[in-house]
Amino acid sequence: MWKMKRVAAVVALGWAAALSASAGEVEVLHYWTSGGEAKSVAELKKIMQAKGHTWRDFAVAGGGGDSAMTVLKSRVISGNPPSAAQTKGPAIQEWASEGVLANMDALAKAEKWDELLPKVVADVMKYKGAYVAAPVNVHRVNWMWGSADALKKAGVAAMPKTWDEFFAAADKLKAAGLVPVAHGGQNWQDFTTFESVVLGVGGPKFYQDALVKLDNTALTSDTMKKSLETFRRIKGYTDPGAPGRDWNLATAMLIQGKAGFQLMGDWAKGEFLAAGKQPGKDFLCAAAPGSANAFTFNVDSFILFKLKDAAAQKAQSDLASAIMSPAFQEVFNLNKGSIPVRAGMPMDKFDDCAKASAKDFVDTAKSGGLVPSAAHGMAIAPATEGAIKDAVSQFWNDDKITVADAMKKIAAAAKTK
Ligand code: BGC
Repeated sequence: MWKMKRVAAVVALGWAAALSASAGEVEVLHYWTSGGEAKSVAELKKIMQAKGHTWRDFAVAGGGGDSAMTVLKSRVISGNPPSAAQTKGPAIQEWASEGVLANMDALAKAEKWDELLPKVVADVMKYKGAYVAAPVNVHRVNWMWGSADALKKAGVAAMPKTWDEFFAAADKLKAAGLVPVAHGGQNWQDFTTFESVVLGVGGPKFYQDALVKLDNTALTSDTMKKSLETFRRIKGYTDPGAPGRDWNLATAMLIQGKAGFQLMGDWAKGEFLAAGKQPGKDFLCAAAPGSANAFTFNVDSFILFKLKDAAAQKAQSDLASAIMSPAFQEVFNLNKGSIPVRAGMPMDKFDDCAKASAKDFVDTAKSGGLVPSAAHGMAIAPATEGAIKDAVSQFWNDDKITVADAMKKIAAAAKTK
């Protein structure tokens, strides 16, 4: 017995020594600061700490990540990048072209990332054929959330499938003294609603032409006119408190039964879940009106910076490996509201909204309905996206701007290089 204890102690000491020899620090920049987001990122921290590494949290508040990107730029310019930063879409290519990202190919090859990721995702994570980023999830942006309490109070029997049904339901909510649409105040929230309207009004092909290819004919078409008119009409169903409100506080209005609907990606589900609410019972999920045959994807990922210190490099590689591991992909996405990006993951622990998302992701990839989210950095280079986002938001916030003028401004913004 005594001997066994001694052996165990020696083994434990050996492990501790092994851990400390390879233990490093990872400094991770992210913008996951709401209730559901913080719970999700805490899971990554736990995994890294269990591997013996030190987690240095670099959280920059601000939904959509605009503030985080500003802070990241100044850190990299001063020659002191974090180990990893939450960054996605074409911005990954921009960072890589600066020569500041690490080549993660050795790990990616050993772990067969090419086989585990859909090609459309893998391509975004690579620069000149080498992995420079690791993906954590697939968010769907074209969701609409419903508060079961509010809808019941207003006599709305089901989630609307078309914009006509939506406005009829919104009128009922208004008549019941409720806020029909919970909305917040940042420009990315306006753009999020706008892209779902464009998708619902024009369909996936039109969405691609207008918001991915930035085709001038599409951007100045009658369908765009109709999209802008629908978008403006929705504003009439928001409350005067919307300007300046964070997206998660808009979700809270549904949780409290004060508002009927929110047009928002499925990170909103993370808020409902963090508040102990159940899908199908307390809250409802449905594709944004008119967009059931489409899927705007938004893949969160971490870019990995070149580091000098060997222990920090090891910790960074362990971080990338953890991000792609089945254990993390499951627990993170259960909390975050998204679905795993890694192929072959069992979905039995996930709720019906996530199961619908996983099915629609596969189905729309085949049908042509799978499109990148413009409002969430997946479709357009950051400078162009910013210009379009501003034009869309100005139109939303200033009722004096006509639809015709907004259309011209958006088309001009799309030419920003
Ligand atoms: C990100 C999500 C995040 C949301 C709100 C999106 O752009 O992809 O991970 O929860 O913004 O901050």
